[in-house]
Amino acid sequence: MGRTILVTGGAGYVGSHCVAALLEAGHRVVVFDNLHQGHREAVLPQAELVVGDLADRDAIAAAFAGRRYDAIMHFAGNIQVGESMRRPFLYLGDNVQCAVNLLEAAAAHGVSRFVFSSTCAIFGATGRASIDEDAPVAPEDAPVAPGSPYGESKYLVERILAWAERVHGIRYAILRYFNACGAHPHLPLFEDHDPETHLIPIALDCALGRREEMQVFGNDYDTPDGTCLRDYVHVCDLAAAHLRVLDRLDAGSRAYNVGSGNGHSVREVLDAVRRVTGVDFPVRMLPRRPGDLPRLVADPSRIRAELGWTPRYASIDEIVSTAWRWRRAHPGGYAELARARG
Ligand SMILES: NC(=O)c1ccc[n+]([C@@H]2O[C@H](COP(=O)([O-])OP(=O)(O)OC[C@H]3O[C@@H](n4cnc5c(N)ncnc54)[C@H](O)[C@@H]3O)[C@@H](O)[C@H]2O)c1
Repeated sequence: MGRTILVTGGAGYVGSHCVAALLEAGHRVVVFDNLHQGHREAVLPQAELVVGDLADRDAIAAAFAGRRYDAIMHFAGNIQVGESMRRPFLYLGDNVQCAVNLLEAAAAHGVSRFVFSSTCAIFGATGRASIDEDAPVAPEDAPVAPGSPYGESKYLVERILAWAERVHGIRYAILRYFNACGAHPHLPLFEDHDPETHLIPIALDCALGRREEMQVFGNDYDTPDGTCLRDYVHVCDLAAAHLRVLDRLDAGSRAYNVGSGNGHSVREVLDAVRRVTGVDFPVRMLPRRPGDLPRLVADPSRIRAELGWTPRYASIDEIVSTAWRWRRAHPGGYAELARARG
C-alpha cells in the first residue's frame, strides 16, 4: 500500500530522483525545499511542493499541519566539502540544526521512520582499500576527523539519530552515499548545482565548451595515476536503495554504505567523458585541495546482503551517458528548461 513520505530537499539532485522512484512505486510525496539549490522544475507534478526552510520551525510546522507522514527522507542540506573548509560553522551549525528541527517535528507528530542522506565523507583517511560500515570515522591519532566540517556535520546528525531513536523511538536508516552521479534515463531530472563542484557535470561543461578547462586538484596522491579515487554510484541506484531501506525500517535502525565498490580515478572519469562526448578538452593540474581524501571506495557488502541492493548502472561510460543526455539537451540546466516550457 502506498505511503505518504515527506522528502526534504526533494527539489535537489538526489532528492528529485528519489521522489520519482517513490511516485513510481505508488507512494504519495510531499517535498519540502527552500529552492536555494533545488529547482521547482525538478519536482514532478504528482508530488506536492511546500517551499520552506528547515531553519524555520514555523515553516516545518506548516508542512506537518493537516498531513500524516509515514516516513521522512531527509536530503536537504549544505553539500560542499570545499565550502565547508572555508565556512565550517555554516555546516556544523545549519546542517545539524536543520536536522534537529526536523526530528523535533517528527517526534511531535509521531513519525517514526526516518531516512538520512549521509556521506562517505564522514570517514577520515582510513587507508583501507574499501570502506565498510565499521571503518573508523575518527582514527585515534587524528586531531580532527572526519576530514571536513561537511563530513563532521553528517556524522553529528548520525549520532543525534541514535538519540532520536532512544528517546523518541524513531527508527532510522543512514545511507552514506559515495559519489552520486548520472541522471534519470527518461524523465527530465539531472544534476544542476550552482556553483557546480562535482566532477562529471563540470567535465561535461568542458566538453560543451561552457568552461575553458578542466581543473584537477592534486595528481600526487598515493593512487595508481596520482589523482583521487572515488566510487561513482548512479543517482537512480541511490533512489532504489531508498525504496529498499524504507521497506526494512521497521526491522530496526541501520547504517549502509552505498557505493558500487569500484574506484575510478579523476583521470579515468575524464577519459570516460571524452569517450562518451567525443570531445577532447584541456585539463590543468592544480595543487591538492584541503579536505580531499585520496581514496573513497565503498565496501557495499552489507547493503547487498541485507537489502539485496546492487547497482544497475555498473559502467562509468553508461553513467556518464545518462548525465550527458540531459546536459547536452539543457546546457543551461533547469532555468533553461523552465524558459522552454514557458
Ligand atoms: N551529491 C552527492 O554526491 C552526495 C554524496 C553524499 C551525500 N550527499 C547528500 O545527499 C543529499 C542531497 O544531495 P544533492 O546532491 O541532491 O544536493 P542538492 O543541493 O542538489 O539538494 C539539496 C536540496 O536541499 C535544499 N535545501 C538545502 N538546505 C535547505 C534548508 N535549510 N531547508 C530546505 N531545503 C533546503 C536545496 O534547495 C536542494 O534542493 C545532501 O544531504 C548531501 O549531503 C550527496
